[in-house]
Amino acid sequence: MPLILETVVTTRSAEGDVHLVPFGLIEDGGEWILAPFRPSPTILNLEANPVFAASSPRDIRVIAGAVTGRREWATLPCAVIPGVRLAESFGHAEFEVVAVEEDETRPRYRGRMVHRESHTPFIGYNRAQGAVLEAAILSTRLTMLEPEKILTEMAYHAIAISKTAGPAEREAWSWIEDKVAAALGRDGPVLAQPDAAG
Ligand SMILES: Cc1cc2nc3c(=O)[nH]c(=O)nc-3n(C[C@H](O)[C@H](O)[C@H](O)COP(=O)(O)O)c2cc1C
Repeated sequence: MPLILETVVTTRSAEGDVHLVPFGLIEDGGEWILAPFRPSPTILNLEANPVFAASSPRDIRVIAGAVTGRREWATLPCAVIPGVRLAESFGHAEFEVVAVEEDETRPRYRGRMVHRESHTPFIGYNRAQGAVLEAAILSTRLTMLEPEKILTEMAYHAIAISKTAGPAEREAWSWIEDKVAAALGRDGPVLAQPDAAG
């Protein structure tokens, strides 16, 4: 399996509207593949403007927010491509699309990195941020997965939340929990408060 980096991708429509979405970038021979499932505004945007930026958010709420209807995060102009990138990021890279592999389900856009930049030091990993990332991905696959599997995985990720989350991670987690609970037809939280012993 290739290396995949989970990033926040920004594209622009023909009218210049920004679309901000988490995507996994697939490494391939020094270039990076963006593979959105159809239908997708990202695909329409790449057809209009074949460039994109990929950012690593400082705040995990950007990723949880983007998959729960909260996409209004501050952006800044890119350095090289005619686009924008996430403002609050550890760093970002800018890509030009150099080839497209058409596919009915999931076309692949091959990006060549034309610029990369660091914005703030990265001090350390946080398990709760990893847990939010995993739960956010789960929350985009609710129609593909069995409820039992979703609950089992959420319960596991909740352990890292209970042990290592700060306020931003707790809020991000609550957004994902609400989305999952609504999809599974539950009134309250998906999970009981996890005990910290796990
Ligand atoms: C960390 C993360 C990585 C994701 N990677 C992909 C991906 O590679 N391809 C994809 O179609 N959706 C991916 N998703 C789901 C999309 O972010 C989500 O479905 C989004 O709404 C699709 O973008 P669109 O608005 O352009 O259709 C990912 C979600 C998360 C949280």
